[in-house]
Amino acid sequence: MRPMLKSASQLLRRRNYSSAANPERKVAILGAAGGIGQPLALLMKLNPLVSSLSLYDIAGTPGVAADCSHINSPALAKGFMGDDQLGEALEGSDVVIIPAGVPRKPGMTRDDLFNINAGIVKALCTAIAKHCPNALVNMISNPVNSTVPIAAEVFKKAGTYDEKKLFGVTTLDVVRARTFYAGKAGVPVNEVNVPVVGGHAGITILPLFSQATPASNSLSDEDIKALTKRTQDGGTEVVEAKAGKGSATLSMAYAGAVFADACLKGLNGAPDIVECSYVQSTVTELPFFASKVRLGKNGVEEVLGLGELSAFEKEGLEKLKGELKSSIEKGIKFAQSN
Ligand code: NAD
Ligand code: LMR
Repeated sequence: MRPMLKSASQLLRRRNYSSAANPERKVAILGAAGGIGQPLALLMKLNPLVSSLSLYDIAGTPGVAADCSHINSPALAKGFMGDDQLGEALEGSDVVIIPAGVPRKPGMTRDDLFNINAGIVKALCTAIAKHCPNALVNMISNPVNSTVPIAAEVFKKAGTYDEKKLFGVTTLDVVRARTFYAGKAGVPVNEVNVPVVGGHAGITILPLFSQATPASNSLSDEDIKALTKRTQDGGTEVVEAKAGKGSATLSMAYAGAVFADACLKGLNGAPDIVECSYVQSTVTELPFFASKVRLGKNGVEEVLGLGELSAFEKEGLEKLKGELKSSIEKGIKFAQSN
């Protein structure tokens, strides 16, 4: 999300930024041979801000890396496979993206993935704490509402936790809200912006269509309710359409690449980089919450507030708190007792 320039000082910062050379940046993808990992590897290989791309998985990465490495873009792609290569894969990373773990099948909730994915995330974060404790971590693995608190606990135990550097990737909710809103409001999709707050599962996903730009006065309350429900159920829509062959991969790779690009731009000092993300937060009484976040040289520069909410959104916010709280507590409990 890029708000319009507001002041001369912003203009000046922008000019200073554009004249500076971008430093070398290493990005690691953990789970790089998977349904998300492969197209995400492609998109990160194409990103001009990436100089080194580390592709790690428990299997299949030699092939993905060989394939990717033939693309004539500057990033050097290298594959790493199995526990004993994880350290080397991570060493020196500026951004680590984690799409490792199992996806949903029809009839499952994201929380049904907890038993398998919690352990995977915990092990990977333990390695991050050891090999690249200063990296920005972009958590894609579900259930995000719990895997981010797990990562935070792992980093706390290792003494490396920096709340500015841990992000739950909720960009796909924003991508969906933008697409669905543009279709319904009849506005150009590439001009649309919609903040999505809360978490990343069912009713914890709260799109703020009252703040959508460009504003539309052609949408009824019923339209807004339907758009909200479709955004909340977007993942399930894909899971059902794929009929047992996994969940969103292509749209997620796109969303993951957008978010990682924003992290890299922030690290490089670009001004006014704002994206929604699930981070440690004081925006509500919950310790983790997704909202607009300003990204900078150290990761989170500022967690932005919710702005003005409609009555419908206020109701949605109160409704989501119970589920989000218990998902957070479940993650913390797992990490503390394992
Ligand atoms: P997938 O099964 O296609 O790929 C997962 C990959 O993770 C596989 O290649 C597997 O080998 C690898 N993996 C498993 N254990 C690993 C470990 N210990 N270390 C490294 N890699 C490991 O699944 P997918 O479709 O790519 O989805 C991955 C995850 O992303 C799922 O949990 C899914 O629910 C989640 N997801 C999140 C969002 C979001 O918006 N945050 C969107 C879509 C999917
Ligand atoms: C999504 O929103 O597409 C992901 O969280 C995957 C899922 O299980 O729905």
